[in-house]
Amino acid sequence: MKKQGLIGGLLLPILVVGFLLAFDVSTVSKAEYGDITLNHYAEKAGMPPVVFPHWFHRIRFKCKVCHPAIFEMRQGSNDINMIKIIKGDFCGKCHNGRIAWPPIYCDRCHAGKSDIAIPKARGFIK
Ligand code: HEC
Ligand code: HEC
Ligand code: HEC
Repeated sequence: MKKQGLIGGLLLPILVVGFLLAFDVSTVSKAEYGDITLNHYAEKAGMPPVVFPHWFHRIRFKCKVCHPAIFEMRQGSNDINMIKIIKGDFCGKCHNGRIAWPPIYCDRCHAGKSDIAIPKARGFIK
């Protein structure tokens, strides 16, 4: 598989370490390794936090497709909101019904689990 080449020598061990760490701190609930929670506005507006599956995207696109062209490479540093996405910025550069599915499937992004702010997100974890 093509994917195998990419996640080969270097990245697979990182994943393994990630999972080990996740088990190590098993008192702290962890979402999937590499997920990034975006929650400047979502919860305050009554929507579950957005869980961005970084890994899923990283294996599909080169870093420079997104960094720094679309997103600054620091967690929490991008001022993203729904209007901007619908207008075609940030996630909306791809989630526009052409490159990827359009932003009408709220739950796919507002997945409501979190790897950093579990207490905040707890209300959304089933
Ligand atoms: C492609 C991913 C994606 C989809 C699909 C999506 N959202 Fe969002 N949404 C975001 C992101 C990213 C933010 C900003 C997260 C943050 O920092 O709070 C956001 C923020 C919001 C906010 C916070 C207030 C604001 O004005 O931004 C609301 C409300 C919201 N979304 C509603 C929705 C609804 C309703 C749907 C479905 C019709 C939807 N979203 C679908 C990614 C998405
Ligand atoms: C599809 C777009 C996309 C691709 C491709 C992508 N990233 Fe990201 N990356 C993001 C988003 C979105 C964030 C979160 C930004 C935020 O929180 O405001 C992020 C955050 C980061 C962060 C900060 C994480 C932290 O914990 O502070 C790093 C480092 C990073 N990316 C590195 C990379 C590298 C290296 C690659 C290529 C292997 C890559 N990214 C590919 C979208 C992408
Ligand atoms: C460079 C293009 C690009 C950007 C930017 C981008 N995505 Fe995606 N995203 C994709 C593609 C392509 C898919 C796969 C679509 C498919 O399978 O039909 C995807 C899939 C997803 C999925 C589903 C993952 C799964 O497991 O099936 C989620 C959730 C998601 N994106 C959220 C986001 C959020 C939130 C943002 C903004 C912070 C974002 N994406 C920005 C291209 C992008």
